[in-house]
Amino acid sequence: MPEPFYITTPIYYVNDVPHIGHAYTTVAADVLARWHRLLGQEVFFLTGLDEHGQKVQQAAAKAGIAPQEHCDRLTPQFQTLWQKLDVSNDGFIRTTDARHQAVVQRFLRQLHDAGLIYRAEYTGWYCTFDERFWTEKDVDAGRCPDCHRPVEQLSEINYFFRMSRFQQRLLDHLDANPAFIRPESRRNEVLGFLQKPLEDLSISRPKSRLSWGIELPFDTDYVTYVWFDALVNYVSALEYLPAQPSIDRLWPATVHLVGKDILTTHAVYWTTMLMAMEIPLPRTIFAHGWWTVDGEKMSKSRGNVIDPYAVVDQFGADAFRYFMLREIPFGQDGDFSRESLIGRINADLANGLGNLLSRTVTLIQRCCQGMVPAPDPSAMTELDTGLQAAAEALIHTTMPQHLRRMEFNRTLEATWGLVQLGNQYIDKTAPWVLAKDPAATPRLRTVLFHAAETLRFLCLAAYPFMPQTAEEMARQLGLGLDFSQALLKAPIVWGGASGATVVKGKALFPRVEAVATPSPAKPQPEAAAPLAQDEDSRIGIQDFQKVELKVAKVLTAERVPKSNKLLKLQVDIGSEQRQIVAGIGKKYGPEDVVGKTIVVVANLKPAKLMGVESQGMVLAAGDAEVQGLVTFEDQELEPGTRVK
Ligand code: MSP
Repeated sequence: MPEPFYITTPIYYVNDVPHIGHAYTTVAADVLARWHRLLGQEVFFLTGLDEHGQKVQQAAAKAGIAPQEHCDRLTPQFQTLWQKLDVSNDGFIRTTDARHQAVVQRFLRQLHDAGLIYRAEYTGWYCTFDERFWTEKDVDAGRCPDCHRPVEQLSEINYFFRMSRFQQRLLDHLDANPAFIRPESRRNEVLGFLQKPLEDLSISRPKSRLSWGIELPFDTDYVTYVWFDALVNYVSALEYLPAQPSIDRLWPATVHLVGKDILTTHAVYWTTMLMAMEIPLPRTIFAHGWWTVDGEKMSKSRGNVIDPYAVVDQFGADAFRYFMLREIPFGQDGDFSRESLIGRINADLANGLGNLLSRTVTLIQRCCQGMVPAPDPSAMTELDTGLQAAAEALIHTTMPQHLRRMEFNRTLEATWGLVQLGNQYIDKTAPWVLAKDPAATPRLRTVLFHAAETLRFLCLAAYPFMPQTAEEMARQLGLGLDFSQALLKAPIVWGGASGATVVKGKALFPRVEAVATPSPAKPQPEAAAPLAQDEDSRIGIQDFQKVELKVAKVLTAERVPKSNKLLKLQVDIGSEQRQIVAGIGKKYGPEDVVGKTIVVVANLKPAKLMGVESQGMVLAAGDAEVQGLVTFEDQELEPGTRVK
């Protein structure tokens, strides 16, 4: 039996509603959980809430309710969001659960009995926001070196965990396990942090200052420091949350996913706590980067916090999941903007994957009575074997390799490489041309089989990232795929799509028109400096990508009656024939353009010119007067080929 895959997210503070930062880690964990379930591993995926401490106590006081009531009210905000985002967590832990509290108290007693917790007076600089003391040398001009808020000097008797004792063991562990902290840059940060002598950690707060916490089992005047309480969740949950609870079977965790800001608490506090409790260390702690919004730090005071509920309601869970993991390498910071999200939806999801599915299903319905044909070995070419090899390499080699390293964006890049290849395959093989020639039927059937089979592989590749999309693809392709099964436990074999009855359905991802809705709640600057003229009119790559330019072949041309400027063209754009009315009649006659390979804008809304419908636009040079048509003279290009 392979080792179980135990993955955790941080447990989120319930001082406020969830934002995209929380959604990011949780979705990333979900992708890995779904992937490992497909591979046939036992998976335990844990998320939950951190309900004690000053932040929560303050938020409850602000709301004028008791802390527990505040936590109970906010909990569904997280749980419902995870449902909306199709998060498949196996356990949901709340630190106010009596079962968790009992484990924390047991650990505290164990460390106290072992002499690893002691009582002492401590004077230091206290940061209320971070709930921690800093030493004189840490403090930066009276401010917290972490959050830069003012600190105050406090002298207090507290209980301390002898963290300093474990510094060398931790260094040795880091040395012997290069993959313990990932990515490499974060590992170096931890090593840098450990250059300085490690201090002991205050693990208590006097109730006189903070009452909302787990009482120390050996001194009722104190509650436990919120981080000591919270970190224990990763092992306390295993005592009561899995279907078959067992620390022995599920621990050590395969990976703790955390944000870069909470790396030290995990890599240093948690690991030394585990050492003290003689519990093995997790295999990997992976720290991801932070999202900014339109180039700015996301914060309540800036009013630019992105509400994940609103994004999901507008664009759907899968588009959001795809965007977050595709847009930036996991581990690096990235920027969230509506424009980039819409750009990705239109370019990758609607024009890429959605188009591949819809044209394949349409062609199978039109040419094969709706049933995925079997390939004809005598009609195969290198194009077919190339596509098969690419699909097999994606599922069997590239995805496992990238996901092992948590390279979500590279996994998606590779997957969309196959989407592109699939679309190019259809452009090149031109099934609509094959359909006109009865002698080409074996080739037509072979081509449509390969397109459908590629989509079957793409269903499996997409599933961990976009579960709803994968289900809908499988439904339209007529594949009875049950994604709750370990579908990739054994390598999937090329050929399974034949015989399926396809069902045309709605577009996987309708194109989104980028109406100018500002990013949620972003306050307008009071007096925005006017932009320089050229800066104002520039567009981003996403805007350009919205224009679908395609190679087209002019089949027929005639003048529009009573116009010396307009020509009515019938053009082949690969997937279909279109009528385009072009204002090129003063420069060209119909006989000049028939047979030419030109470039058209394929996703323009239809319009009527002198009463004649035009379903696109041709590209030509010139301003008021057309001076030249954009053509490909010496290359043989297939209609439908994308122009970028
Ligand atoms: N309660 C602690 C964690 C305890 S784990 C034993 C905590 N909670 S939190 O709610 O403040 O933050 C949870 C996570 O959200 C952290 O991993 C943090 O990095 C992440 N994010 C908060 N803002 C973020 C962004 N703007 N972008 C990405 N992630 C961000 O810390």
